[in-house]
Amino acid sequence: MVPASAAVSHQSSLQVALRRLSAIKLDIGRSPSSSLALSTKAGTMSTSSKNPQRAPWRDILDSQLKQTAAYDFTVATVGYDAQQRPVPRLRTCGCRGFFPELELNPKGQEAMDQQVEGGGNPPVFESDMLSFTTDPRMEKLSQLESSGHAVEAVFWLKDLMTQWRIKGTAYVIGDPSGEDSQIEKSSRTEISKALRVKGGADSDVAKWTWQNAVTKYFANHSPVARGFFRNPPPGQPKSSTTSQSDLKLGQKVLDLYDPVARANFRVVVIRPEQVECLDLTDQENAKRWNWTLVDGDDGSQWDEIELWP
Ligand SMILES: Cc1cc2nc3c(=O)[nH]c(=O)nc-3n(C[C@H](O)[C@H](O)[C@H](O)COP(=O)(O)O)c2cc1C
Repeated sequence: MVPASAAVSHQSSLQVALRRLSAIKLDIGRSPSSSLALSTKAGTMSTSSKNPQRAPWRDILDSQLKQTAAYDFTVATVGYDAQQRPVPRLRTCGCRGFFPELELNPKGQEAMDQQVEGGGNPPVFESDMLSFTTDPRMEKLSQLESSGHAVEAVFWLKDLMTQWRIKGTAYVIGDPSGEDSQIEKSSRTEISKALRVKGGADSDVAKWTWQNAVTKYFANHSPVARGFFRNPPPGQPKSSTTSQSDLKLGQKVLDLYDPVARANFRVVVIRPEQVECLDLTDQENAKRWNWTLVDGDDGSQWDEIELWP
């Protein structure tokens, strides 16, 4: 928990940071081109792409999240009712930070070291995309598929008196059949477009795999939480579901490649297109900023605008 005084001092530094970031944003938009070669289970996929611009809001949100004990966010998708009218659907999810730079807990790292060659991926990529994990048997994934991947996520960081809204498109990875699945294949393609190669890491790009990226998220769950992915089908009536020996509550999963749990495990990656920050620290002088990703001649750029709150 951040004491109120620290929150206030952070807020004034937020305002300074926003001004500074605004001033330098034209420079950081001109990152060098990089060749991304993302290895997949099926082989190596190479794309020649520009390193996308680092979003001006990213480090501010990142620093605020790091000051928050646990950061759940509300994730909204669009569903359709029986008359095919669009309906908003919202739920709480545990935000897992910026893809793919999940900070593993010590037990998760131990599991990766023991079960995954080389302990997992080299730290090659970073991005401005937020991530969470889920079960494809839940409704949100079919809602993403039927709504053009539309998503909005919101954080209310009460200790910092700040709300963040992140609107964009969400892509799902982790299908065990890899790129034999069209959804997995197109998700990887879309996510790749917004990955940045970290400085000096180009030589390690070919060692990075999508499977290891997803396994790291699975490893970051406790054995009991991994067991959720061996639960009976979420959201289905108990009365109409026949029991299966491998799907029951309260299981512990130690094997990072447990086939039943991994079949029900996915990582959702949100590619932001519009971000809004509402700072209510000073109630008499609330602040609101909006950043919108716009396509320019030399790639996408973030436009920043200060709004009336
Ligand atoms: C504190 C908290 C954290 C949660 N974290 C997640 C999560 O990370 N991923 C997830 O799919 N559901 C999570 N849930 C459950 C969801 O809120 C929701 O019940 C579930 O995802 C089914 O939603 P859907 O059928 O609309 O997809 C969490 C719930 C709570 C209360």
